[in-house]
This record gives sequence, C-alpha cells and structure tokens, in this order.
Amino acid sequence: MTSLRKGIGNTKDIEDYYDKWSKTYNETLYKWEYKAPTQTINILKRFLKREPKYLLDLACGTGLFIEKFLKTYPKTICDGSDISKSILNEAKGIRKYRNLYKKSFEKKINTPNKYNIVSLIGAMTYCKNHQILFDLVSNYLYENGYFIFTQRIDIWKDLEFDNILKSRSDFKFLYKSRPLNYLPKNKDFGKDIKIRIVLLKK
Ligand SMILES: C[S@@+](CC[C@H](N)C(=O)[O-])C[C@H]1O[C@@H](n2cnc3c(N)ncnc32)[C@H](O)[C@@H]1O
Repeated sequence: MTSLRKGIGNTKDIEDYYDKWSKTYNETLYKWEYKAPTQTINILKRFLKREPKYLLDLACGTGLFIEKFLKTYPKTICDGSDISKSILNEAKGIRKYRNLYKKSFEKKINTPNKYNIVSLIGAMTYCKNHQILFDLVSNYLYENGYFIFTQRIDIWKDLEFDNILKSRSDFKFLYKSRPLNYLPKNKDFGKDIKIRIVLLKK
C-alpha cells in the first residue's frame, strides 16, 4: 500500500516514504498547490489575540508551515518533530526551529517545555490512536493554549471524528473551516479530497 490518498502502510513504511521524498517534497507540494499552511495562518490571525511565545509543530515535515507562520509571528520560538530523519534534515536546513525531535506524534517527546500552540498540519491522516495524540497535545500545552490541525473530510466521516472531538472535555472547540481543497493539482486528490482546519483551545 503506497498511495498518498489510500494510505502508505505502517509507521516504518511512512518513515521510508518521507525519507525518500524529502529532497523534492517542497517542489512537489508547490506544484500540487498545497495551501494548508497559509490557510491555517489566516485562521490563527482571526483567533490569536497576541503573538504566541512557544509553538510545537508536530509532523513538521520540511518546515513549510513554520516558514509561513514566522512571517506573521516572527518572535515565536518553534520546536518541531517528525518521524522521518531525512525530512528533519530538511527542516534543520531552514534554521527556523529551536529544537527538532525525531519522534512519532503518538509518543511523548522527552522535553519539559510547554507550548502556547501545537500544530499538526497535513498529517492527521497518519494518526492511529487519536486519544493518545490528544492526551499528548493536552500535556504539551499551557492552559488556554491552542491546538490547530487539518483533517481530511473523507477520513473525518470514516472515523466519526465529531465523536472523537466531543469526547475531549479538556479541549474547547473554537472553529472548523469549510471544506477546503487539499492537493488540487495532484491527480488522485484533485477536487475530490478536501480538508477542514480545526482550532481547539485547552
Ligand atoms: C504531508 S506531510 C506534512 C508536513 C508539514 N506539516 C507540512 O505542512 O508541509 C506529512 C508529514 O507527517 C510525517 N509523519 C507521518 N506520520 C507521522 C507520525 N506518526 N509522527 C510524526 N510525524 C509523522 C511525515 O514524515 C511527513 O513529514
């Protein structure tokens, strides 16, 4: 199973897939008109009252989201994590992250640091156990901190994702976007696969 749309396989397969893709990831995503980072920041601008001090970017990839984020919030100190070593090398190369961790977002990062925002952009698809992820995010956040993420609408329906969100009494639901194109110029995704961007507050 190696389809970005249908699924890549187990965690090791995903890691290998992104390791191999790391050098050309940015140009491919640009060609496919991936807009989630910019759309996410437009939502944050509407809800954040002040510049956040600390952000943790889970499944940070090469840093496409953080590069955009820091244009709006240049003083925020950003850490990132990902499972792919080669992807993390690319992220290191942009010199925007304070710390980078090679870690699945379903495992605890070994850090005492707390954050005002946790982001998970373009990667919820890979989550196998949402309760573990939400527990960890809740733990990384300060009180009143934000969790912003994208989720594919087809997967949302399959998982009954509304029920997962409702089960989390530690988070207040602030916003979910209308369905947005995800990778409109990728032939498997086209206008067929859409995402929502979701903002929660602890
Ligand atoms: C589509 S990319 C998104 C990257 C980045 N957030 C962006 O917006 O460009 C998905 C990323 O999720 C990472 N990933 C997949 N499963 C993961 C997991 N369980 N834990 C951490 N990262 C994961 C991949 O290595 C890849 O870098």
